[in-house]
Amino acid sequence: MTAPLKLALVGLGTVGQGVVELIQRNGEVIAARLGRSVRITGIAVRDLTRARDVNVADIPVTDDAMALARDGDYDVLVELIGGETTARAVTEIAFSRGKSVVNANKALIARHGNELLAQAESAGVGIGFEAAVAGGIPVLKALREGLVGNQVSALAGIINGTSNYILTQMGSKGQAFADALADAQRLGYAEADPTFDIEGIDAAHKLTILASLAFGIPLDFDALSIEGISAITPQDIRIARELGYAIKHLGIAKREADGGVSLRVHPTLVPTEHLLAKVDGVLNAVLMRGDGAGPVCMTGAGAGRLATASAVLADIIDLGRSGAGIAPPLGQPVVGLKAVTIHPAQDAASAFYLRLRVADAPGVLKGITSVFAELDISIEAIQQREPREGDDATVALITSETTGQRIADAVARIEVLPFVREQLARIRVEHFEA
Ligand code: NDP
Ligand code: HSE
Repeated sequence: MTAPLKLALVGLGTVGQGVVELIQRNGEVIAARLGRSVRITGIAVRDLTRARDVNVADIPVTDDAMALARDGDYDVLVELIGGETTARAVTEIAFSRGKSVVNANKALIARHGNELLAQAESAGVGIGFEAAVAGGIPVLKALREGLVGNQVSALAGIINGTSNYILTQMGSKGQAFADALADAQRLGYAEADPTFDIEGIDAAHKLTILASLAFGIPLDFDALSIEGISAITPQDIRIARELGYAIKHLGIAKREADGGVSLRVHPTLVPTEHLLAKVDGVLNAVLMRGDGAGPVCMTGAGAGRLATASAVLADIIDLGRSGAGIAPPLGQPVVGLKAVTIHPAQDAASAFYLRLRVADAPGVLKGITSVFAELDISIEAIQQREPREGDDATVALITSETTGQRIADAVARIEVLPFVREQLARIRVEHFEA
């Protein structure tokens, strides 16, 4: 009888409890597929008195994560506490003992992955982080294995479940931003610090990982352009819908003609008929374009207890099968990855949605459109709404494709016009090939 695969589970919160539940529920099928059973031999938590909704009565539980990593009897350490300090420390202890690690920790991988993966390579152990990107969607495995024979030219995705949930609730239920965020926290979707979700940082962590796999480049979180959803208003969602668009928070990675890449996360107007526009609630979706496969889109739950646990288990089982994993986690050894130029979002071309509050006076539209004419930016659609508050009217427009820099110039000129009442809202518009 083959010995069980032994796990040390560091963290027993939303995802940790999901992992315990799935192992308890699917133990037999997992054993049949792996060729041996999976057994949790120790658990570390922060608060030993906190009630758990899974039965771990037979498993020793400690509040000393470092001791479990250092002295525990395990083959794979499963780090599900998040953050970069203790998470990194237990990971390095496991590596130093020749043990593999699985986590769902995009912050740790995006910011310290180059060093951690190099350490794992030199220790001859594995590290899996499928759950770090897009929850239950096996997108890293798809890039690493299913699309291994392709050159990926671009990918775009809804990769933060909390932001997508909030935008959906604001748009379809008229829920206030703060209430939708509170619901996402209650449902276990949000990060410990939810500003990571709503300011685009979590999506940027994930895009960093996706881009590294897609383009074979080192992880470089600091090079990304990042914008979250905190400035999106119900009015923008409503106007966008009237103009034929949904507002989605996207991570976009493109290979540019000079061999560099552009990496950006920001709210985006997506045509309502496009499949990304139809991905609502906590669902995520990643659309990838390979030179052989063409467009490939994967969708599924981007956060939540069991969906994330599903991805954690996939890594555990892979590592249990092969020791150091089937393929290197970033598709090729991290030490061989070559850095390329990462272009700032200002250089990226797209159409733009702009909304501004203006005095309801003659000549206003002419004043605005003449700025665009001077800068050689065409306007594809323009809408003036009846004044609702005092004498102010709202003008919304969609430009033709132009660069972020040129729009910044136009906005700077328009904002100083005497009839403009407040800062313009500015959101990119993307029309995807598929
Ligand atoms: P939770 O906050 O629900 O759980 C964190 C767990 O870690 C808790 O059990 C906590 O203990 C424990 N913990 C925290 N610090 C320590 C420490 N120093 N020593 C020992 N235990 C500690 O987080 P999640 O389960 O939501 O997230 C875990 C990871 O999964 C994060 O990296 C997150 O980004 C990632 N993730 C989460 C998803 C989700 O849907 N929630 C989806 C994808 C990834 P205690 O319970 O006693 O407080
Ligand atoms: N907070 C993250 C999200 C969890 O909402 O997408 C999944 O990574």
